[in-house]
Amino acid sequence: MSKDLLSFFLAWMSAPGRVGAIASSGPALAELITREITASSGPIIELGPGTGAFTYKLLQRGVPQEDLTLIEYGCDFVKLLQMRFPGARVLWMDASRLANSRLFEGAPVGAVISGLPLLNMSTRNIVSIVGGAFSYMRSGAAFYQFTYSMRCPVPRPVLDRLGLKATLLDRALLNVPPASVYRLTRRAPCKFVNV
Ligand SMILES: C[S@@+](CC[C@H](N)C(=O)[O-])C[C@H]1O[C@@H](n2cnc3c(N)ncnc32)[C@H](O)[C@@H]1O
Repeated sequence: MSKDLLSFFLAWMSAPGRVGAIASSGPALAELITREITASSGPIIELGPGTGAFTYKLLQRGVPQEDLTLIEYGCDFVKLLQMRFPGARVLWMDASRLANSRLFEGAPVGAVISGLPLLNMSTRNIVSIVGGAFSYMRSGAAFYQFTYSMRCPVPRPVLDRLGLKATLLDRALLNVPPASVYRLTRRAPCKFVNV
């Protein structure tokens, strides 16, 4: 995978803020972020797949390529992904345009896996990305996001505004650098009792 190291490093050199890491994620993080995915989780959206570190793991979990929509903004990564995953839908697209893109009819998506560097993004972009992703997600579906920070990269006011809760799934200490994965899900509706 030394070719991936080089692709990543060159991409990071040309756009450090957008790429957000100098190397692709390792197997421990790929294992963790896809831990709750099964063959029946599809359709699945992957945001910021880069060279496909998580995508390979999704395939190992039994997800068919045809169930994957890969959304990537780096054009070199897009070409690589199209070669590596010819059965998947690979879109050269800014994830903050998700809501306006009519990617699916209705809301069939069972999971979203995100490698986006949210810590480098404005609150407005985070709202567009997370809100846009949830507009395609079926009831009970989850959005998985990794971060190198000790805190959830989706700020609390954004979670409140979108009616979501974030749960720490676990930490991948063997990743370089160590990373955490958060699961975002819709909050249960409040039950009002008339007395
Ligand atoms: C930290 S890298 C993660 C790559 C891969 N998921 C991994 O873990 O190895 C972030 C990726 O998100 C992509 N990206 C950043 N901003 C994006 C945006 N607005 N829309 C789509 N992709 C974006 C970058 O090009 C890069 O591939």
